Amino acid sequence: MSVRIRVNGVEKALDVDPEMPLLWALRDVLGLTGTKYGCGQALCGSCTVHLDGEVVRACVTPVRRADGRAVTTIEGLSPDGSHPLQRAWVELGVPQCGFCQAGQIMTAAALLKAKPRPSDDEIDQSMAGNLCRCGTYSRIRAAIKKAAGMPEGER
Ligand code: FES
Ligand code: FES
Repeated sequence: MSVRIRVNGVEKALDVDPEMPLLWALRDVLGLTGTKYGCGQALCGSCTVHLDGEVVRACVTPVRRADGRAVTTIEGLSPDGSHPLQRAWVELGVPQCGFCQAGQIMTAAALLKAKPRPSDDEIDQSMAGNLCRCGTYSRIRAAIKKAAGMPEGER
């Protein structure tokens, strides 16, 4: 089956099994390896991408669900790594091993789109499904607030 997806603003036609996980299509077919495979069971969030602006777990999303729709991956969040979240991530040195971080940023980006100045509770609720084995949670929260333009005292 041919699946047509707008990936990071570019139309792609993929000749793949419609049941293939979207994550495989992104990584193995399109070479977009920024999105990571962690658990394969929608439990860790490392494979998080946006489907028509909504957060999805690419490891459990069949590629057919993306047919005719728009997918954004970490590579497409900004053309040059200048999204406010990416800048805050660098400035606060958020990552440790880095494995979970693309998923963290994609979830945070959806949060800030919906709630430009999220509360601690809203951040915790939105980010709860994104696990970090390195325990970078406090820096993630601070970076989200920085990206939201909150002054240092509120972070
Ligand atoms: S790899 Fe998809 S949620 Fe863990
Ligand atoms: S930075 Fe290592 S798993 Fe999150």
